[in-house]
Amino acid sequence: MCGIFGYITNKEEALGPILIAAAERLTYRGYDSVGAAALNNGTIDLRKDVGKVEQVAEKYSFTELRGQRGITQLRWATFGEPSQINAQPHLDSDGDMVGAHNGNVVNNIELREQFIAEGMTVRSQNDGETCVHAVERYINRGYEFIDAIRLAYGDLEGDYAFVIGRANDDKLYAFKKGSGMVVGLGEGFTCVSSDLPSILPLTREVIRPQDGEIVTLWADRVEVRSVKDGKLIDRKQETVTESMDAVQKGGYAHFMLKEIHEQSQVARELSHVLNGNREVDVLVGKMKNARHLYFIGCGTSYHAASVGAVYFAQLAGRAAIPVLAPQGIAQYAPAVSHADVGIFVSQSGETKDVLNALEAAEAHGMECFGLANVVGSTLTKSASLCLPLCCGYEISVPATKTFTNQVVTFLYLAFKMEGKDPSSPLDGHSLRSGQSIFEVIPELMEKTIEMVEPQIKAIAKDINEWNDLYCLGYGATYPIALEGALKLKEITYAHCEGMLSTEFKHGPLSAVSKGFPIIFVAGPNDVPLIISGINEVKVRGARTIVIAEEDPRLHANADDVIVLPKSDPQISALLGVLPLQLLSYHMSVMRGFDPDFPRNLSKTLTVD
Ligand code: G6P
Repeated sequence: MCGIFGYITNKEEALGPILIAAAERLTYRGYDSVGAAALNNGTIDLRKDVGKVEQVAEKYSFTELRGQRGITQLRWATFGEPSQINAQPHLDSDGDMVGAHNGNVVNNIELREQFIAEGMTVRSQNDGETCVHAVERYINRGYEFIDAIRLAYGDLEGDYAFVIGRANDDKLYAFKKGSGMVVGLGEGFTCVSSDLPSILPLTREVIRPQDGEIVTLWADRVEVRSVKDGKLIDRKQETVTESMDAVQKGGYAHFMLKEIHEQSQVARELSHVLNGNREVDVLVGKMKNARHLYFIGCGTSYHAASVGAVYFAQLAGRAAIPVLAPQGIAQYAPAVSHADVGIFVSQSGETKDVLNALEAAEAHGMECFGLANVVGSTLTKSASLCLPLCCGYEISVPATKTFTNQVVTFLYLAFKMEGKDPSSPLDGHSLRSGQSIFEVIPELMEKTIEMVEPQIKAIAKDINEWNDLYCLGYGATYPIALEGALKLKEITYAHCEGMLSTEFKHGPLSAVSKGFPIIFVAGPNDVPLIISGINEVKVRGARTIVIAEEDPRLHANADDVIVLPKSDPQISALLGVLPLQLLSYHMSVMRGFDPDFPRNLSKTLTVD
């Protein structure tokens, strides 16, 4: 996830070390490129490239940067591959302004075309550059700087925070729409950043601007204005007292919990990016014409691929084959050809099993596409086209937010395959009118977490003594049950098996004894079937826990019902994973384990 930092001081000093240190403090967000710019006596000194902070800073001698104003940025690629030209900050056409953003400008492509047509010099594919030209456009038309920013804000769609400075000026400007931004106030300097950790070692005095606000920074003061009418806003200064560790985890005890809570926000950002992404139509066109569709991954990503296959069948009437990557080599590669399409799914984009499967499929002529979180990873380069998952850096080893965004992407693609416009309002839909399904999903995710967390903690305590448990689902909730079982295994070290609910009677039933915990994830249309399953195990002593929408029949049959908000069978499955993530997390913590770094496991497996 990108990070920005702007700094302004009342004396000309060696800015380089300050910018390098700030960039280093942003690295935990994840990045592929680094840049820094100093604004000094009417000139702009810009240095940037792909690579680690220490390498790029050394290669381009960032320590030489001098002046009273500086900007640094760490880029996590979404628009435009990781490259020097796409790295941030960016200059305007004449090199009079420099700016950098974090987040996504979803109408990037349209705006770039407009700027080129208006005669501006557009150097990269990156949407951070688009922010700079969006301001330049109105400066060219004779507007004052603040008014130019206000108008640019109206043109730039998406979620982002942006910092910009002019060579002949004594200020920096920043504005915020959807992404995090914090302003710091110190002795003889002010600064602005994507987050608190990069500011705290400098000062604990901060202001937190809200969306739709523009901040003007001088070395000794700041001013906050509304983007709507340009009027001053009285944003109170506050003193931060939390420790650095707590701040990095956003106040959560672990990164996993933070990432669970981030899921609604990243799902919102993802749907904005998908709405503005022409590659989605290219991919859908290829899939529509394909003979067979294969969705390929490992671990959590395989479970997302499996949910995707259910969505494609249920919504678009298209069969897709979910494939565990290594088995794809042995079982499917010999059968595929150029008429088939494969989507390779991976958080890291580096899982060796997945890359091997891609190579084998390509050797047989299959068209290979990708879904990956880490832009610039091997998968993003090897696949003909790869959609980004837009989750930012996922630090916790157990995947959470990347799983839900993989599932959201498949749901989006299934809508497209069905011939529907996923960005259009749900007129007449039972869920909600006036909003698109992808606007409703993040709200439902937030509501789910809010509704279930206290009950999950109580259930976690009750069943924590068990080292054997099952997680069962059916239809779209079957892969969700597999994913829940994997989460439980990964971080509680208990043996938890995920299974199709109807298969339980074909063998595992013999394991049931008094109190044996069995978790069911039930879709709204599968309640009668799940009730049969519940009773089969209940009469043999099992403790039955159901995750489902409100239904009195479930309360009458199960020991515990974890209620999800009302939605539809596909969304309900997606929501069903959230209580399972939370259950795993709380059981892991109750057992005294660190859920972020489970023993024996690695976030990215680059071995066979
Ligand atoms: C490792 C991780 C799993 C992950 C799997 C696939 O085994 O421990 O959590 O699901 O790799 O990773 P990918 O990056 O390809 O999604």
